Order: sequence, then structure tokens, then C-alpha cells
Amino acid sequence: MKTHKIAVLSGDGIGPEVVSETIKVLKVVEQIFKYNFEFEEALIGAIAIDETGNPLPDATLQLCKDADAVLFGSIGDPKYDNNPNAKVRPEQGLLKLRKELGLFANIRPIKAYESLLGKSPLKRSHIEETDMVIFRELINGIYFGEKFTSEDGTHAYDTCSYHRKDIEEITHLAFQEAMKRRKKVMLVDKANVLDTSRLWRKVAMDISQEYPEVELDFLFVDNAAMQLIINPKQFDVILTENMFGDIISDEGSVIGGSIGLLPSASIGTENALFEPIHGSYPQAEGKGIANPMASILSAAMMLRYLGLEDGAKAIENAVENAINNLIVTSDLDETSDYSTSVVANYIAKILLSDHDHHSY
Ligand code: IPM
Ligand code: MN
Repeated sequence: MKTHKIAVLSGDGIGPEVVSETIKVLKVVEQIFKYNFEFEEALIGAIAIDETGNPLPDATLQLCKDADAVLFGSIGDPKYDNNPNAKVRPEQGLLKLRKELGLFANIRPIKAYESLLGKSPLKRSHIEETDMVIFRELINGIYFGEKFTSEDGTHAYDTCSYHRKDIEEITHLAFQEAMKRRKKVMLVDKANVLDTSRLWRKVAMDISQEYPEVELDFLFVDNAAMQLIINPKQFDVILTENMFGDIISDEGSVIGGSIGLLPSASIGTENALFEPIHGSYPQAEGKGIANPMASILSAAMMLRYLGLEDGAKAIENAVENAINNLIVTSDLDETSDYSTSVVANYIAKILLSDHDHHSY
């Protein structure tokens, strides 16, 4: 079996805790399926600023470029959030990494697990059977446009800009995904106000001609924010620009019961990065209460990307088993005192016993 080089960027806050549990699970999968992983760690984020002054050191970037995939933890530290004058910020490391690796598509699946329906603050009848995937454009738009703050600090702006070419590739990916699913693409935008949104509509309509079986629909983002709560099952594939995707994917996490469950894949032409959608959750750091499932499910997405489908499926089944048996951290069950590593160990144990029973 080919050796797969995996760059491991644990980052800040709970990142290192969830990533080390994920690697534990990946090592079990490696052994079961005779895969061959080579893990190499590197610095990013606040910890990289502390040690090198740079949130994305050159060595980290190079390692990621050379790797077959990047496994990412989380980024951010409150000491920067509360300091408007900070010149460097941990988040710049992740944004630059996404840009440099050309990770234009951020893919965020959201589904309602049967055994967790009661855990969501949303009504069971509203969320059951929800199964959608958000395609968020990741390296353009307002997060990357020209920005400015005046010397006296009384004026600032950020610019949202898109070219047709920034929209085409991710739109194709969204339509291709829809072909494998329920054949519906919903473009979320603000085309009643924004020129960039009107460009997105134009491009999506043009590209939809190539996918006659897929139904393309449009929704303004403010309405989408509401529809996600009152009728999320209507969505199959959501396609949207960078900032809207950032916002609605956090919102969508309430459907699953916890943001600690949601994985993501960021895909480019040459590179790919896999990360939980949750942040660094500094309040939980070091307490052993962080949910490792989003990171472990991100690793499953990584295996699928690497063509290791059996391992991907096995991890997803083992996580589902843990969820069904409520072997979960306290974000999903307030009566639970299972720690990050107890949950990951359970998942590892299920992987091994599933393997003994069906010997895939
Ligand atoms: C995410 C995060 C990042 C983003 C931050 C940390 C820059 O919120 O991955 O959703 O805004 O993209
Ligand atoms: Mn976000």
C-alpha cells in the first residue's frame, strides 16, 4: 500500500487534544486495513506566533504543500480577539494556508442523527431526516478582499470581490455532489442587494445547463438563516460564498445537536485539508471535555479523499455506534462525564471489533 504523507497541524485551544485522539483512531484504521500513514506535525496559529512570530511559518506551508493531505485542529486565542490593535492574528495563518494551497471548496455535511434528535434545541419534527451538505467558497470574497483602517481608527472597510473563475469550479463540485444525492442545489446569496451575488446567480445558471437533472434554486441568505431552523430537510446541496457559508454552517450545527460533531473538507486542485468546523474553544482547553467526533469524522473525509473508502466508512460507522449508544462528551449529553479520550477509545474499540466480526 502506498505511503500517505499527512501533515498534522493541531493549532490552538482544544485542537491538539482532538487531533491526538484522531491520530489514535487513524492508527487503528491503518493497522486494520493495512494502510500506511506518515504523520508529520507543524506549527500554526497562536502557538506558531508565540514560537516564531509568524502564524504560518514557511516550514509549515512547505510541509503542507508536500503532503498528500493536511489534518487540521483549530485556531484562535482570546488574547488576540480582545486586542483590536494586534498586528498578527492566529486566523491569518489558516486564511493564508487556505489561499496558498488553493483550497477553494469547503465542504460541510450536516445531518441529524436519530439518537440525538432530542439533544438539539430545535423540535424533533423539524430536524429529523435532515441530510445536507454545504459547499462554501473558501479563498475569495470579503475575507480576502482589500481592507483598510484609517490611521485615526475612525474608518474601516472590507471588500467583497468575486471573478467568474472563482465561482465556476466550486459550482461544478456542488452540482456533481448533487448528482450523487437528491439532485438539488440551493444557491444562498443576497442577489437583491449585492453585485457579487448576481454574478454567482449568473454563473450557477450557466453551469446548471450542464446538469439538466439537477434542480437549481435560489434563496436569500437572511431567508436561508430562517429556513435552516424551520425546515432544514428541504436542503440537499447548499452552494454559497465565503462569509455566508461561514455563518450558516455554524447555524446548521444546531441541527446535529452540537458543533462538536461537524467535520469539513477543504479541497483544491492539488491539495486538501480536513478540519472540524468548531473553533479552538479555549474555555475547554486541557479539561478533557472537547468532543473529538468532528475531528475524527474529518479524518474519515480525508480517507475518502485519499481513496481509502473502507477506512472512511468504518470510522463513520464506529462514530455512529458511539452516538447511538450515547458514548458522547457532555456537549451532546449533559449527564455524560465521558472524556475526549474515553469517546475516542470507544470508537477505536468498535473499529477493532467490527473488523473482527465482518473482517472487511
Ligand atoms: C471556519 C473559521 C475560520 C473562518 C476562521 C478561524 C478564520 O471560522 O473555518 O469556519 O472564518 O473560515
Ligand atoms: Mn467559522
